[in-house]
Amino acid sequence: MRIVLDYLFRRRIGNEGISEKTFKQRLKELAWIREELQNERGGNASFCELPYSRSVLKSVIRKAELFRKRFRYMVVVGIGGSSLGARTLIDALSPKKEDVKFLDNIDPYYLSSQLRSIPLRETLVCVVTKSGSTAETVAVFLILCERLKRSLGNRWRKNLLIVTDPERGPLRRLARRYRIKSLSIPPYVPGRFSVFTPSGLLPAAFAGVNVEGLLDGAARMDTHIKDAVYGMDTPFLSAVADSLLWKKKRILVLFTYSSALRRFADWASQLWAESLGKRNSADGRVIHTGQTPLPALGVTDQHSLLQLFAEGPHDKVYNFIEVKYAEDRIEIPLIFTDVEEFIYLAGKSLKALFESELSGTRDSLVRNGRPVMRLILEALTPVEMGAIMQFFMVRTVYLAKILSVNPFDQPGVELGKKITYSLMGRKGYEDLPKCDEGASPMRWEFKV
Ligand code: PA5
Repeated sequence: MRIVLDYLFRRRIGNEGISEKTFKQRLKELAWIREELQNERGGNASFCELPYSRSVLKSVIRKAELFRKRFRYMVVVGIGGSSLGARTLIDALSPKKEDVKFLDNIDPYYLSSQLRSIPLRETLVCVVTKSGSTAETVAVFLILCERLKRSLGNRWRKNLLIVTDPERGPLRRLARRYRIKSLSIPPYVPGRFSVFTPSGLLPAAFAGVNVEGLLDGAARMDTHIKDAVYGMDTPFLSAVADSLLWKKKRILVLFTYSSALRRFADWASQLWAESLGKRNSADGRVIHTGQTPLPALGVTDQHSLLQLFAEGPHDKVYNFIEVKYAEDRIEIPLIFTDVEEFIYLAGKSLKALFESELSGTRDSLVRNGRPVMRLILEALTPVEMGAIMQFFMVRTVYLAKILSVNPFDQPGVELGKKITYSLMGRKGYEDLPKCDEGASPMRWEFKV
């Protein structure tokens, strides 16, 4: 993986860029956060240790192989951090993507059509929830349990796998009581940092992803972070640059140039939004901070968002996520010799066109004074995916430290969950005040 920061600097893009002098100064001032991260590996930052959990890896691979022998398909029931990691890995790396379905929405119309298409007897239902109590996940789990009971009778448990906290939560209790197969998400690892736990690894291994390579890549990034000389730890450099652009650049565009990485942008967006978008600082001050992540796909979105990116407000910073494709798989043929405007394409590879479009778009943004960082995967492999995901998680935590926010909680999301419980009549949540639209004397609501 290569990380190119050059186009973030004033020297390259003019006034909208960072001054290299300030950047170097901040690197010195903030060096302590690197040490702090290392000191937290046994607690809050224990996700850094996950690439080395080789016994967990072995057990995940063994279980995935066993499940593969018994089940043709897998349905993953989970939401947010308990779904996006596995989905990203499978989208990017699996040779058998169609064997795994993700149910991460309870829109009744969507869900009923999805449920109709699941061959339950041949399907392993893998329920992923750290808390064990997220309403959406639990609801789909219950619906599927009932269907399994109807279809398999006493053997309903055989098609179930629960991935949850090792000790806490109702699903852990359920797994114990009914002896349902289960795997654990380590206690200190929140959903969006859990891709290298069984939450991400098990579905990925089931779908044929080389999960060992993935952890090797994450470990390689971790070693780079720990051993970086003169502080040249790339997530640290990125986070310091991010922090210098933070006030003016309200939007982080994640421009992936690979259809297989579309989901990666969703995963990174969730990580960024939920970890950094906070009302309070870690010491309790009201700061309302955050940066809005915006996924974009090259080349498709060149024809929808690029105009805004190039000429709109100077409120965005761009991360180009690029992949070096080795092969020239498709050549553009010469068919219409009489159409002069097409001739330049003939005999060129699609890869050459794709890469020219990528360079053209990137350079046009740079020329328009837009800050661009490049993250280049040497190939679309498990090792490179492991490295970039570890890079993003550590970069997020570093940035949280600079901004003085807690990256591991999500109080805003929790409030929404509690209101839902209250509306649905869950015991213990009766007293939450509702926003009553009818209470205002003047209504601004129209039926047309
Ligand atoms: O990243 C997170 O912590 C969240 O997005 C959670 O993953 C999400 O809210 C689902 O929670 P749970 O895994 O407890 O069902």
